[in-house]
Amino acid sequence: MWKEASPRTIYLKDYQPVPWVIRTVDLDFRLHEKGTRVISRLTLERNPAFTGQAAELRLDGEGLKPVWLRLDGSELHGDAYGIDDQGLVLFNPPEQFVLESEVELAPEKNTTLQGLYRSGSMFCTQCEAEGFRHITWYLDRPDVMARFKVRLEADRDKYPVLLSNGNPLERGELPDNRHYAEWEDPHPKPSYLFALVAGKLKYIEDSFETASGRPVRLRIYVEPENIDKCDHAMQSLIRSMRWDEEKYGREYDLDVFNIVAVNDFNMGAMENKGLNIFNSKYVLARPDTATDDDYLGIEAVIAHEYFHNWTGNRITCRDWFQLSLKEGFTVYRDQEFSSDMGARGIKRIDDVRMLRAHQFAEDDSPMAHPVRPASYMEINNFYTVTVYEKGAEVVRMQANLLGPELFRKATDIYFDRFDGQAVTTDDFVRCMEDASGRDLTQFRHWYDYAGTPELTVQGEYHPDEQVYRLQVRQSVPDTPGQKNKPPFHIPLVVGLLDSHGRDMPLDRSDGSARPELLEVMEKEQTFEFRNLPEAPVPSLLRGFSAPVKLNYPYSDAELVFLMAHDSDGFNRWDAGQELAQRVLLKLVEQAPEGADMLAEFTHAFHRALDAAHSDPALLSEVLSLPSESLLGERMEVVDVEGIHAAREQVKAHIGKRLHDDLLSHYRDLGEEGEYQVTPETIGRRRLKNLLLTYLTASGSREAVDLCVQQYQAGHNMTDVIHALTLVADGDHPARQELLDDFAARWHADPLVMDKWFSVQARSSRKDTLERVMALQEHPAFSITNPNKVRALIGSFAMGNPFCFHSADGKGYTFLVDKVLQLDGINPQIAARLLRSMARWRHYDKARRELARGQLERVAGQNGISRDVYEVASKSLQG
Ligand code: TRP
Ligand code: ZN
Repeated sequence: MWKEASPRTIYLKDYQPVPWVIRTVDLDFRLHEKGTRVISRLTLERNPAFTGQAAELRLDGEGLKPVWLRLDGSELHGDAYGIDDQGLVLFNPPEQFVLESEVELAPEKNTTLQGLYRSGSMFCTQCEAEGFRHITWYLDRPDVMARFKVRLEADRDKYPVLLSNGNPLERGELPDNRHYAEWEDPHPKPSYLFALVAGKLKYIEDSFETASGRPVRLRIYVEPENIDKCDHAMQSLIRSMRWDEEKYGREYDLDVFNIVAVNDFNMGAMENKGLNIFNSKYVLARPDTATDDDYLGIEAVIAHEYFHNWTGNRITCRDWFQLSLKEGFTVYRDQEFSSDMGARGIKRIDDVRMLRAHQFAEDDSPMAHPVRPASYMEINNFYTVTVYEKGAEVVRMQANLLGPELFRKATDIYFDRFDGQAVTTDDFVRCMEDASGRDLTQFRHWYDYAGTPELTVQGEYHPDEQVYRLQVRQSVPDTPGQKNKPPFHIPLVVGLLDSHGRDMPLDRSDGSARPELLEVMEKEQTFEFRNLPEAPVPSLLRGFSAPVKLNYPYSDAELVFLMAHDSDGFNRWDAGQELAQRVLLKLVEQAPEGADMLAEFTHAFHRALDAAHSDPALLSEVLSLPSESLLGERMEVVDVEGIHAAREQVKAHIGKRLHDDLLSHYRDLGEEGEYQVTPETIGRRRLKNLLLTYLTASGSREAVDLCVQQYQAGHNMTDVIHALTLVADGDHPARQELLDDFAARWHADPLVMDKWFSVQARSSRKDTLERVMALQEHPAFSITNPNKVRALIGSFAMGNPFCFHSADGKGYTFLVDKVLQLDGINPQIAARLLRSMARWRHYDKARRELARGQLERVAGQNGISRDVYEVASKSLQG
């Protein structure tokens, strides 16, 4: 771990090609519970792309115990090299040479879950971003792409399965009850895509034939007890492979594709070439153990990792500043895949809800950074919602600006031009330009500047001329290190509704061929529509055409009108959300007009609920209240208690007023029969459970009994966990009984127990923090397992703003205690947890003082990791 007081910052502007490149890598792993050996043979040669002067070559390597070192077959003399805590320096290596080495590792002591480590009884690796340097000496950066051959050997009984990247070669028996396997990956790759797995695993197998006739053997490996939970992941994989062929013309390129599920993993999953390693959360599902959201998450993450084979692996990033090149594009691809597989409109709403809740908050915090950052201390801190989700929006805007045909032409150019290379986001944009003939110079600001742009729009109708003018002003807020930003290129998709709520034909005075698309490029710009017989109501930012905040002075009546009539489903939903926010914020202020607004809102809610033929999935989105954190973002100073109370008040009001109607709809939506994961059945369950939330908030005896009944009926995990969540949030007499029942039933299933921890950590009860602390002692909890930490501590700090931001500051103290404890175990996870403090300046003075004190406690610690130091120091500065 990093021990310096103030770690270095790395800058994009300092990028330089490497002086030597590695062409081939031969690795030999001798796996042992104690003292694993890694023997490496690298062939290196001068990099033709390197133009500077360099006599020495620095290879990365951390925590390696050197055994021996040879250059072109001879043991290296002590004066020919040096070793420090960062790596190995060769003082005067030849133009071309072979470097061989042996090092010893202690994977059994590795709690960071980077490099080679143990999860349960298996060995596995995680090398992105800079884990490979914990395995052997290497040029551990993505622009060094080499051909890998791997041999691994281990005990035959404990590790019957031995996997690595690429295609399998031979395997065989060895003395001492050991065996070995060899793997060869024909595609040059950066070290972050290396992987190996050794364990006692079972697998399910299927096959896929690519469009050009290559047969591919597909396997999903899991611990034996999970073998009946892999089918959904396999079906998702097969659908992803077909989709990438159909939508992007991309075929798979090896004989085998393997997925391994592990319980100890820092992130969702990893796209290692031919050997994806997954957090078991994104593989394992059975109707009684996984919720609808789990099923959807598995489909999305399986697709995401598979899609990386082209967007990430065949074409990779030149340096880590370009991370969004692969992540933004791949998230865009997985979002589109999920939309094609399920309900497009719902998917878009869910994605935007998440973007607004998390990415807008990050953009408005001291941790704000551009989609392509210009500097970092620790790259692991930049796997963010900005790089991933805003990055996906930036790709989506380009796809929409070009239209489907030109976008496909652009991605064809991209794959063709850069296959086998490590490139930049700028190279990506240039393909968009070359395919379309457009100039995207100004559009590139989306990559270079942080902060969420704001559009302020005003409309003016001129009856005499029959024209309507939309005046659009844009501004981008200052963010750390960036002030006075130039105007962005913002695609603003609009519609104009007549008084019956129908779309009016759009005729732009500038004759634009796509009149619905306003390309906002100036600080202030006016767009004119002609031949309009009446004053329209504008529908703005349709489909959320750009990741911006929009201000337009809608009256409440206009929002109700849009909610009822807008042909754009996204904007119908968004109008309802805006209305709900207005009501809630008025109630927070305890403004006198709040009561009337609530009555109006309840009325609109009732109409929507009873509207014939409405789609249950969309209805569940429309009837959901904005979250506490989203409401907090709309306030100058976040009123923690006020926001919570207002939401509870609205839920209770609706639950009481519409009780019997809610109840009858709840009953109509009741159990279908065999559990299925389809957009329709998911939508029905979502709506049903939302109605149960309102019913429960009414406090009626009947409603609480319904929760218990739904829990006990146990039709599927979606219904069970929702019922348990509602019961766990209150004082119901059956509360403890149900929680105990759940734990007794599922104590041996770690993923299901994560839900049990999370339900309790999210409860708004007074004793939640106390319970969270006590639950750390529960036998199913483990501080070294990231899923457990996220389920208990993460859910509390990020999913329970009411309790976490309690006025006494105990939430902050607890969180920082955990961050400091975790820093010695897993700095990546510690730093992620600490992000929940980054927006401390948005709270009242008393909370600010408490939070600042805790952040200073972190920043002042000696020997803190670079990961945690960066988050603490930036949070305090910003
Ligand atoms: N490339 C992975 C993905 O998005 C991200 C990832 C998995 C990761 N494990 C990690 C990033 C560990 C940093 C550290 O699909
Ligand atoms: Zn990814």
